Parts: sequence; C-alpha cells; structure tokens
Amino acid sequence: MVLRARSTDRIYHLHRLIAAGGMGEVYEASAPDISRTVAVKRMMEQNATDENLLPLFLREMLVASTLEHHNIVEVIDVGKAKNELFLVMELVAGPTLAEILEAYKSRSARLPLNVACGLAMQIAQGLAHAHERCQPDGTPLGIVHRDVAPENVLIGHDGVPKLVDFGLAKLNGQDLTQPGIIRGRPRSLAPEQARGDPTDARADIFALGATLFEMVSGECLYPQETIATLLYRVASGDYEPIGLRIPNADPGLIAIIEKALSPNVSARHRSARQFERALGSFRATRELRLTTQAIAEVVHQTWPTIVERRHEVMQHNEGELYGQTIVLPADELKLLARAPSLQGTLQKRRRATTSNGRPHSLNAPLTRAARSRPRFEEAQFPQRSPSSIPSRALFGCRWNPADRLYTTVITLTATLFLGLLWFISRTY
Ligand SMILES: Nc1ncnc2c1ncn2[C@@H]1O[C@H](COP(=O)(O)OP(=O)(O)OP(=O)(O)O)[C@@H](O)[C@H]1O
Ligand SMILES: [Mg+2]
Repeated sequence: MVLRARSTDRIYHLHRLIAAGGMGEVYEASAPDISRTVAVKRMMEQNATDENLLPLFLREMLVASTLEHHNIVEVIDVGKAKNELFLVMELVAGPTLAEILEAYKSRSARLPLNVACGLAMQIAQGLAHAHERCQPDGTPLGIVHRDVAPENVLIGHDGVPKLVDFGLAKLNGQDLTQPGIIRGRPRSLAPEQARGDPTDARADIFALGATLFEMVSGECLYPQETIATLLYRVASGDYEPIGLRIPNADPGLIAIIEKALSPNVSARHRSARQFERALGSFRATRELRLTTQAIAEVVHQTWPTIVERRHEVMQHNEGELYGQTIVLPADELKLLARAPSLQGTLQKRRRATTSNGRPHSLNAPLTRAARSRPRFEEAQFPQRSPSSIPSRALFGCRWNPADRLYTTVITLTATLFLGLLWFISRTY
C-alpha cells in the first residue's frame, strides 16, 4: 500500500484517458516507484477544488485508503497538483456493471441469476468490510459509501467486482459542509438520503437492493419519469411493488430485495453481512452455483460491444492532461496523517500490514470477517488486477432535491404574492 508510506512527493505520468465520468476524468498512469499501472482520477467537482474542502477530501481518501478488500478498489494516493485534486487508484480492467447491464438490455436479455446473486454477494462483502471498519479502540469509523450503483462497480476480466468511489459521495454530502446537497443516483438512492436525513450503512443496503433488483429485472427501480415526480417518489420510497415488477422471479429472492428496499430503515437487513447471508441461504436452497468464472464469462461475452461503445462515446478524446506529468506533494498528507483522529487508524494499519506482508483487521469482528473465505463454490479471488475503461451512467445525474423543492416553493409563493398585490391594486 503506497499511501501510508508516502513521505516524499510523487510523480505520475498520465497516459491515455480511460473515461470522463460525472466526477472527472480518469487516466491510465504510471509512477517511477510503482511497479503497476494505476488509474488517476482528476476531480472536476467544484467543491473538490474549494480550499476548505481540501483537508476533508484528503481525510476521506485517507480513511478510504485504509480499506483493504478484494471487492473494493484500492486507493493508492491522493493530492493536489496544478491546482486540482487527484485521486490515484488501483486500475481495474473490464467494464462497469452498468455497462454490462446496458449490453444485456440492448439484446433484450437478462443477466443469469447466479451471476446477479454472485455479484451482489461480493459487493455486500466489500460493503461489510467498510461498514465494520473501526478505530483501534473499537469506535466505528462510520464509513458509508452513499453511492452504491452499477456505475460504481468495476468488474475485472477475472470476474471479481470491485466497488469504487468510497468516500467521494460524502464530499458533497450533508455530513460535511452543505446541508441539503445530496450526491447519488435517483435510481438507487435510499429515501432518507433523498430527504437529506442522516444516513448510516443501511442507506448502502437500500442501494445494494436496488442494484440487485436492476440486475434481476434489467430495469431501474424507478422507471424514467419527470424529475419532479421522481423526487417525491424516491424521498418516500414509493416504487411499484417488487413482486409485480418481477412476477416470475423466485419468491425467496423477491423477499430479500423487498427487505433491502424497505422505506423503513429499521426493517432493512441490519448489515451488509446479514444481506450477504440471506443471499447465501437463498443460493444454498436453490442450489445456485456462484462462481467468479461465471461472472468472467459474462464479462468476456459483453466486452467487445462495450469497447465499441466506449470508442463511440470517447470520440478520439485524449483528455486535456494526456502525456502530462503531475506531482502530488507529501506535505498535506503528512500533516493529516498526524491528526489524532486518524493517527491510530493509519498506524494500526501500517503495523498490521508490515508484520506479515498481508493486511489484517483492526478489531475482533473485522478480523473474523477478513479471515473468512469467500463463500463461493470454485471461487478464486486474485488480490489485485490491472487496467481499463468506463461508461456514462444511464441516469447517472447528480441532483439536489432540496434546492429544487425550495425553488418551486419560493417561485409559487412569489407568484401568489404578486397576484394578490395586482388584485388589490385593481380592486381599490
Ligand atoms: N480505478 C479505476 N479503474 C478503471 N476504470 C475506472 C476506475 N475508476 C473509474 N473508472 C472508470 O472511469 C469512469 C468514470 O468514473 P467516475 O467515477 O468519475 O464517473 P462515474 O462513475 O460515471 O460518475 P460518478 O462520478 O458519479 O461516480 C467509470 O465509469 C469507470 O469506468
Ligand atoms: Mg464513479
């Protein structure tokens, strides 16, 4: 792991543009002192270049960098260069889950059930790892992804899915600086998150349920409608009953999805671990064979179409920073790493990884979780995989329901008031 050890400035050479997403451009890159190719994300969010947000961004990324799980994209480095923020990550070869779903949809086909369940179980394992992360004294770090969606699941050619963008959603979230501003995608946003209420790990359970629903049905939880009606429906969790949307699906699977998608937070699975166990029991009773090979096969089949589509979208766009070099300074990171709130977490992790070359966890439950083998038949989870490209979200828009609501209310009130004034002036 590079981030914790970095005490000197680091140079990155940016190569081809992998993708331009909602959050910024992602480049393939190399560094003289890192043996593998990495992904460098240039953060284009306005907030990310805000001076006040720099420490928060770095802190979020430092916390994200403590996550070590084969179903989470590794955060390697972070910093500011050329007056912009950059995030350096493990490069994941292969498509996003969104691209795979799109490829299936264009052929009017559905993802095989064992692949959908296998992906959901592995995403749940990655989430459980993050949610259970604690400080050395046992205080939970309270890590929540907040933007679990098919666009943020990268799948390697080995069939291993990895969650990306941990901590980034929080940057614009109500927890840090801007009350009412919500980052996320309407199609997998938990109602409490849409309302701007405080959220916890169960918002990720909802989003995971929505993602599983999308994999099984091939459709979004909220079919496309106007942003105004969508706002109210998402905020109240008002979607068409799952059983009606996928009447032919197994009732056991429908029950799991419905529980995860409960608008009532306390009626959902208590944890990602519980969600994963529920899917595991379902798999066992239905004798479904979940393998990374089956997922890899799906990647293999859809990859040519996806690459073609990416070329169309990119239109020979090499990216502004193609061929350029950036230098990420160590100073800010060093300062932050010394902050008392982070020190224990980062130090503990350093010790944990240097003793035997493999990471282990910060507390008892996490240790058990980290040691447990993935419950997949014939499953093989290679540690880290190399390289590749992206997509644009189907409904990957960012929105701010609170702003829209306030604007509508204020406009209506102003109109009524002016109308009243006009009426009074005409009458008297
Ligand atoms: N570590 C990575 N390795 C390989 N490709 C990546 C990596 N991170 C992101 N990408 C690709 O870059 C694309 C753009 O990423 P980005 O997260 O900026 O955009 P997004 O997911 O479309 O939107 P959002 O910013 O809302 O998450 C992704 O769709 C993905 O294909
Ligand atoms: Mg993303």
